[in-house]
Amino acid sequence: MQRTVFFFLIVILISSGNLFSQEIEVLPLPEPQRTGGMPLFEALDNRQSTRTYSPHALNMHELSNLLWAASGVNREDGRRTAPTARNWQQIDIYVITANGWYLYDHTDHALRKYGDQDLREHAGTQDFVATAPLNLIYVSDHDRMKGASPENREFHSATDVGFVAQNVYLFCASEGFATVVRGLVDREKLHQVLNLRPSQHVVLGQTIGHPGN
Ligand SMILES: Cc1cc2nc3c(=O)[nH]c(=O)nc-3n(C[C@H](O)[C@H](O)[C@H](O)COP(=O)(O)O)c2cc1C
Repeated sequence: MQRTVFFFLIVILISSGNLFSQEIEVLPLPEPQRTGGMPLFEALDNRQSTRTYSPHALNMHELSNLLWAASGVNREDGRRTAPTARNWQQIDIYVITANGWYLYDHTDHALRKYGDQDLREHAGTQDFVATAPLNLIYVSDHDRMKGASPENREFHSATDVGFVAQNVYLFCASEGFATVVRGLVDREKLHQVLNLRPSQHVVLGQTIGHPGN
C-alpha cells in the first residue's frame, strides 16, 4: 500500500513538472543604447580579430548593448538586428563568464542564469579563451527550422550565425572592445556542459573583452 502511494506521488510530481525542474534566475538587462556609436564606415575600417584580452569584465550596460547589437529585437514584430533564413530565429546565444553561464533571452532582453560555474575553459581550445572575460557560444536549434532539409539546416545555421558574429565585430570596433570569432571549439564538450538538447548544435564561439597588452 505504502509503495503504491509513493509511486503515485512520483507520477504526480513528474507530470506537474516539479521534479527535476531547474530554478532559472532571470536577470533583466539595462535598456540598450540604440543610437550613436561610431560612424559605420569608421567601424568597418576598425573591424579586426584580436587574441589578447585584459581580464577586466564588461559592465552590465556594455553587455546589454553588445547582446542587443548581436541579435536583439529591433522591431515591434519581434524581428532582430541579425537576419535569419525564413525568420526561423533559431540562433541562441549562450553567455559564458567567470561568474556563471547564461542564455540570452532576446524577447525580454534578459539573461537566464543557468549556472554559477566558470565554463570558460570549455568555451574554446585556444589559451586566451579561458582567461578572457566573456565568450559567446552560438547555438542553432534545428527543431525551429521548420521545413528545411538536413543539409539546409546545417547551411543556414552557419550563415545565420555569421550575421550575429559580424554584428558583434562591428559593435566591438565601434566601442573599442577586442573580439575574435572562433571555429576552434570542442562542440561535443560544449554540448555536454551547456546541457543542450539533441536538436541544438554548437556552431561557433566568439570571445569579447577589453584589449590586452
Ligand atoms: C568562421 C570563422 C572561424 C574562425 N575561427 C577562428 C578560430 O577558431 N580561432 C581564431 O583565433 N580565429 C578564428 N577566426 C578568425 C580569422 O582567423 C580571422 O578573421 C582572419 O585571420 C582574418 O583576420 P581579421 O578578422 O582580423 O580580418 C575565424 C574566422 C571565421 C570567419
